[in-house]
Amino acid sequence: MDLHLTGKTAVVTGASRGIGLAVVEALTAEGVRVVAGARTVTPELKRTGATAVSVDLSEADGPARLIERACAELGGDIDVLVNNVGGGDAGGDGASQTSGFLAFTDRQWAQAIDLNFLAAVRTTRAALPHLIRTRGAIVNVSSNGARMPHAGPTPYTTAKAALTALGKALAEEFGPHGVRVNTVSPGPVRTAMWEAPDGYGAELAKAMGLEQEQLLAALPATMGMTTGRFVEPAEVAALVTYLASPLAGSTTGADHVVDGGSIKTT
Ligand SMILES: NC(=O)c1ccc[n+]([C@@H]2O[C@H](COP(=O)([O-])OP(=O)(O)OC[C@H]3O[C@@H](n4cnc5c(N)ncnc54)[C@H](OP(=O)(O)O)[C@@H]3O)[C@@H](O)[C@H]2O)c1
Repeated sequence: MDLHLTGKTAVVTGASRGIGLAVVEALTAEGVRVVAGARTVTPELKRTGATAVSVDLSEADGPARLIERACAELGGDIDVLVNNVGGGDAGGDGASQTSGFLAFTDRQWAQAIDLNFLAAVRTTRAALPHLIRTRGAIVNVSSNGARMPHAGPTPYTTAKAALTALGKALAEEFGPHGVRVNTVSPGPVRTAMWEAPDGYGAELAKAMGLEQEQLLAALPATMGMTTGRFVEPAEVAALVTYLASPLAGSTTGADHVVDGGSIKTT
């Protein structure tokens, strides 16, 4: 299927690995010129041919710096913005992601909101003048935790719920200017978030008294995933790429769950 994306331009946040990297790979395979932001420029990201920008998007001025650099690279035009950055660095300051609401500090709430919500607010604010000019599209990567807020750390799921709400509001406000805004909400995806020795998966396994391997093997069933397996990053990227394309011209303000059937309600 030709997605009619050849020659278009895109900015992808959180692009050095995982879902963001898969989105960069999918977009570049469609002939899109991509500017990709993360703190680390990995060999995998370099190999995509995207312009990689090292930037901390949890800092207040990081998103504007990324968009400024993207405009310089892309000649001022941005057709697609993928706000993918999110998650968080587990336990960096000894703070636990698994101890429950009463244990979360203000610092943990601020970090979760900065990375999972305000990074998208700030990147979108900087990019919108360009997206209005190109009649472009925004795709926000939220989480199915936005609809099941008990199923993860509350600072994270609450920030994702705000991100999902933002997508709906922006779709209404900027639809008349020709900009479409959609949300993709994955369930457990096979990325560093779960697999890294210092990631959320490792911390959750420890809290549950399990080996990380055991947790990963049990998680699809525990989360009620009808498919019985983790989502693959490329499966999320395929949907993001479709939503970014003109083929999705009548799809806006929608929240698309990619969670292997974990959410059981309509
Ligand atoms: N994996 C899942 O199960 C799952 C489920 C639902 C939703 N999601 C969402 O999907 C998105 C991607 O998740 P993922 O699993 O692919 O995560 P991941 O593998 O941990 O990758 C996160 C990406 O964001 C970058 N990043 C992290 N902090 C950053 C910062 N301060 N500034 C700039 N870049 C930063 C990382 O690169 P650097 O560390 O080099 O900066 C990396 O490229 C997130 O929004 C996450 O919440 C994931």
